[in-house]
Amino acid sequence: MKTEGASAKAKRRAGERATEEVEDGFVVGLGTGSTTAYAIEAIGEAVADGLKVQGIPTSFQSRQLALEVGIPLTTLDAVETVDLAIDGADQVVDDPDSSAYGALIKGGGAAHTREKLVDSAAERFVVVADPSKLADRLERSVPLEVLPDAHTVVEDRVRDLGGEPTLRDAEHKDGPVVTDNGNLVLDCEFGAIDDPAELAGRLSSVPGVVEHGLFVDLADATYVGTDDGCEVRE
Ligand code: 5RP
Repeated sequence: MKTEGASAKAKRRAGERATEEVEDGFVVGLGTGSTTAYAIEAIGEAVADGLKVQGIPTSFQSRQLALEVGIPLTTLDAVETVDLAIDGADQVVDDPDSSAYGALIKGGGAAHTREKLVDSAAERFVVVADPSKLADRLERSVPLEVLPDAHTVVEDRVRDLGGEPTLRDAEHKDGPVVTDNGNLVLDCEFGAIDDPAELAGRLSSVPGVVEHGLFVDLADATYVGTDDGCEVRE
């Protein structure tokens, strides 16, 4: 029998606990990734039990899972309000004394453009994570979704900003990762990022960058699954 590892358990606890915020009649942004998948499955179970919600998926992957578990879907332009978004993260600043507390790096699943669109449209955005995602400072590589024609030009601009870009390759086949929007992804190493808001502004101003994976001042809370429960950071 396959056993669930500690990280998977923590992800499941975070995803399932965050789902308790979903109320009848809510429009819910459905993030992307393995942690959010637990939330989508839990929402599917609640729908089967009679909860009325509509979901807005942030990727092909989350759309497929939502359809599989029976969540009725809608789109951003068809609703007036997104009540709640639940989404994962690759890194979260967890130091309450830091001015960047709650800032995120996202885009490990190359879905950060739609994720940012939906998460920032939501009245409340909650992050679901396991403890491995928590850090005092952001220091993972920052994904940039870039127009295909622009990738070499953007690479030069990233180097000018002190970063080292790598075009993300698809696993198991030759060629780069292509996003749901038909674009490419550059993973950019900047080392420890002391001021994510400043870097976010600089990256946003580079022509050819569709969206970067720095999420600053967007998250309202983080659900962190642990060995025996779930902690909520507001
Ligand atoms: C996708 C994302 C994911 O939310 C992030 O990569 C976390 O994924 P996981 O929950 O599988 O660790 O940003 O673009």
